[in-house]
Amino acid sequence: MSTEETPAVKTYPVAPRLQATPTPHIGPDLDAYRAAHKGSVGEGSDEWWGEKARELLYWDRPFKTIRSGGFATGDIAWFPEGGLNVSYNAVDRWAFEDPDRIAIIYEADEPDGGCSITYGELLRQVSSLANVLSTTFGVRPGDTVSIYLPTTWHAAVALLACARIGAIHSVVFAGFSAEALRDRINDCQSRVLITCDEGRRGGKAIATKAIADAALEACHGIVEHVLVLKRTGGKINWTEGRDRWWDEEMAKVPKYCPPRVMSAEDPLFILYTSGSTGKPKGVVHTSGGYALCAALTVKYVFDVHKGDRFACMADVGWITGHTYIVYGPLLNGVTTLMFESTPVYPTPARYWEVVAKHKLTQFYNSPTAIRLLRRLGAHHVEPHDLSSLRVLGSVGEPINPEAWEWYHEHAGRGQCAIVDTFWQTETGSIVLTPFPGAVPTKPGSATVAFFGHEPVILDAMSGTPLEGNNVEGVLALGTPWPSIARTIWRDHARYLDTYMKPYPGLFYTGDGAARDEDGYIWIKGRVDDVINVSGHRLSTAEIESALIMHKGVAETAVIGTADELTGQAVYSFVTLKPEFSYDSGNEAGLVKELVLQVRKVIGPFAAPKKIYIVPDLPKTRSGKIMRRIMRKIVAGEGDQLGDLSTIAEPSTVDAIKQKVAEGNA
Ligand code: PRX
Repeated sequence: MSTEETPAVKTYPVAPRLQATPTPHIGPDLDAYRAAHKGSVGEGSDEWWGEKARELLYWDRPFKTIRSGGFATGDIAWFPEGGLNVSYNAVDRWAFEDPDRIAIIYEADEPDGGCSITYGELLRQVSSLANVLSTTFGVRPGDTVSIYLPTTWHAAVALLACARIGAIHSVVFAGFSAEALRDRINDCQSRVLITCDEGRRGGKAIATKAIADAALEACHGIVEHVLVLKRTGGKINWTEGRDRWWDEEMAKVPKYCPPRVMSAEDPLFILYTSGSTGKPKGVVHTSGGYALCAALTVKYVFDVHKGDRFACMADVGWITGHTYIVYGPLLNGVTTLMFESTPVYPTPARYWEVVAKHKLTQFYNSPTAIRLLRRLGAHHVEPHDLSSLRVLGSVGEPINPEAWEWYHEHAGRGQCAIVDTFWQTETGSIVLTPFPGAVPTKPGSATVAFFGHEPVILDAMSGTPLEGNNVEGVLALGTPWPSIARTIWRDHARYLDTYMKPYPGLFYTGDGAARDEDGYIWIKGRVDDVINVSGHRLSTAEIESALIMHKGVAETAVIGTADELTGQAVYSFVTLKPEFSYDSGNEAGLVKELVLQVRKVIGPFAAPKKIYIVPDLPKTRSGKIMRRIMRKIVAGEGDQLGDLSTIAEPSTVDAIKQKVAEGNA
């Protein structure tokens, strides 16, 4: 397969600020990158990884073996004899060296409501919470703790406190609904939930505790203790004996807790993500390998140096928040920013005010936010002093060249490196990225492989690797790396089936990708039933099962379609049960109910942008829904539907065309 015709692509040389001090870790050109990367793959790379693991982490117990197992057997392990504590590595090392160094800058939703936490204070907070969890609640190593919190500094404390005592944290994004939270608590059987009274985002209050209460009602008493952070002081319901205030419990326990030495392969956390079936997957990451790649990628992809102030604007509830708000920056001993608000609150200048106020050096963000800010105008950026910035990152979805150029010109002022970083919840850390001091960039391309990675582009049908340049197919990864997820919680067979079996000997990403004439990789988006809306990963099957729970719905098909702002948007087609009667003059009312249904089962961020009530769905004679047809019609390509000979009832296509045309009118 060859790549489609693409317009001429501009190449940007290494950015001016990466040619100045501090000298980049890898530079000044592609040769330097190639030489550095060579050591991290293939023969002799064990030594390279051993050295990095010793350089970036403190090991209480040395490892002998670097790696064992592989994709085929699904028994991957890194540094298996090694013992370490991730919270010691992220907090204590710097607290002892320089207790007054700022660890976390908290930018609250209210612009004047934030604060800074030093490494010394962070150690006391993490220790205290570790003591609450272990002595007050009886959490033991290997137990799971669920966390349902907004992006406040307390969330980082919660993650690190679990890590300190060897408990496995399972953070649930605070935008998930009660039912989604319930399912995630039930799946990992947490006895403890950490949450808050209310969240605040964009000036609005979110009823976090009320949602948690509703989730726990259906958890059959699994959760014995709920620790509640007072975020707003709003009125909440209280269950005596189960609920306890964060501050009160913290005040009762000692402020130091010795870190527990864990095996490198002990799980550090579970994070649920959407796959191509209706059931979310509990992706499991380990202590040693994950921590190493979190630290390594922050150091090299963002070219972090001592004294830097690193900002990842993600929510702590997603993998980006785990790796690039909490673990990666803190494992490097730099300052990390936690941002609770939105890019437009109280005004679209918020990001740039934050950059100028804290003199941020790295800024990591999503294409959706960049597109939104571009649309709102550069005049919001221009007045602000952004001269502290060196590296600007992008993650979560393909970034279109126009957004890239805008980011470069207005946020970067033409001086900063732009790193378009491709990775996934399952990879734990960045896989493809430019190295900012060494790799010239092309807007829209995630460029080259990070250390340890050997990306392969395959022909999707035959699985044959497509050698050379100018090829397009599906992306697989050739060698296990330290932060690869080790399993899906209580479902190792699904782990093997999803990632290892499609192309034996390789890890399958589920993404389409092309390699251009310079060997640069371009991610083309998911090729499975996963939709990416504003960088949020959603499964079509999950949204379909939410819709089908509505009493009137007979069948439904959910598709992702291109959206100028959010990258993709959720569209769904619904047929109704014959016995279901509703006021056909008020179809809008039913559509509203269906949207609410998805908000209730998954969360507001998964709500379909459009729902079409149709008489029938296009199906093959064997009854398989032909989503391809609906995708084409929605994309305005209804006259290019190709071969329709397999369709059972061709008239369904016209009805859908008509409905979509009416909806667009
Ligand atoms: O499709 C790819 C897209 O996001 C998916 C992973 O989603 P998730 O596990 O939620 O992790 C998001 C944050 C790492 C990928 O399969 N994706 C991620 N980064 C990029 C991207 N698509 C294009 N370019 C990227 N830089």
